Amino acid sequence: MKIGINGMGRIGRGLFKALSNHPSLEVAAVNDVAEPSAIAHLLRHDSYYGGWESRVGHADGALSINGREIPYFREHSPAQIPWRKAGVDLVVDATGKFKDRAALSGHGRRVVLTAASRQVDRQVVFGLNHEAIEADDNCISATSCTTHCVAPPLWAIHRSFRAKTVLFNTVHCYNVSQTLVDAPKSDPRRARAGALNMIPTTTSASVALEEVMPELAGRIRGMAIRVPAPAVSLTEIIVEAQKPPKDSAAVNALLAAEAENSLKGILAVCNEELVSQDFRGTPFSSVVDAPLTSVDGDLIRIIAWYDNERGYVMRLVDLLDYLETR
Ligand SMILES: NC(=O)c1ccc[n+]([C@@H]2O[C@H](COP(=O)([O-])OP(=O)(O)OC[C@H]3O[C@@H](n4cnc5c(N)ncnc54)[C@H](OP(=O)(O)O)[C@@H]3O)[C@@H](O)[C@H]2O)c1
Repeated sequence: MKIGINGMGRIGRGLFKALSNHPSLEVAAVNDVAEPSAIAHLLRHDSYYGGWESRVGHADGALSINGREIPYFREHSPAQIPWRKAGVDLVVDATGKFKDRAALSGHGRRVVLTAASRQVDRQVVFGLNHEAIEADDNCISATSCTTHCVAPPLWAIHRSFRAKTVLFNTVHCYNVSQTLVDAPKSDPRRARAGALNMIPTTTSASVALEEVMPELAGRIRGMAIRVPAPAVSLTEIIVEAQKPPKDSAAVNALLAAEAENSLKGILAVCNEELVSQDFRGTPFSSVVDAPLTSVDGDLIRIIAWYDNERGYVMRLVDLLDYLETR
């Protein structure tokens, strides 16, 4: 399947690299508003994950990776990008700019959006509800990194202990939606210097979770605290249970069993006492910190780690693999 990537930012470049050696998914063209030289440079050098071993070059209108040329467009609007001419079958929109149906349909027939949006055919958390994708679901949201962290363990807990109410709080690294120095923004807190402050703000995961787990609609509330860290985040999830477990060991045993079965490769359970940088590059959507699990009456609390870039990119690849077979 030939993939087009719109937006060669953190997620776009991560996906580009992840697909570079894929046996059947080929990046056939990319689009970004930046000069190709700037994107080539950022593919070669990454402040967080380090350099890339591939040979990256650029020419007018193309990137070259290990000698293979990939058409590079610089259009601002999806409808202007000549995907069809480049033979693209499916476009991944990773700009963060286009979440409404009208703009996304400019990409053509099949689109995967790397953000939560209600204006799509289906919001998908790979590993949880990807099998519900129907043949005519052509515009799919891969939801958000936080949704991928919360949904797998929450699904397992809800299935066994029946959730009445769910509260979650993601302690999230900064990203491009914030500012480096204080600068005007509609959210007065995101307007404040991201590398200096702990910033309480919203998360799109609340909305996406309700769609992915409709039986919990109206019973999930979440927020984010953006913290001065470049990548890796964690989520605290508190569940009021209708059928509470005996103790934290019962919760961890359940999650460990799911991590080996229906959520293999998606969910992991960590028994060591670690800190955020230990999870740099983890390919899982969600890694439950077992020593921090607690049960108090009908309340269950778990903490789950995620590399919000790497884990999310891995699930995008899984989703594209799945869509290729359909
Ligand atoms: N970062 C994460 O951890 C993460 C995880 C999961 C999902 N997401 C979601 O993925 C999306 C992208 O996030 P990101 O962190 O990768 O952001 P990013 O680094 O800012 O990447 C977006 C890229 O798209 C480019 N762009 C902006 N407007 C464009 C347009 N009209 N046409 C083509 N390209 C355009 C940007 O260029 P400029 O820089 O010049 O604007 C940038 O290169 C967001 O919706 C975000 O919520 C992010």
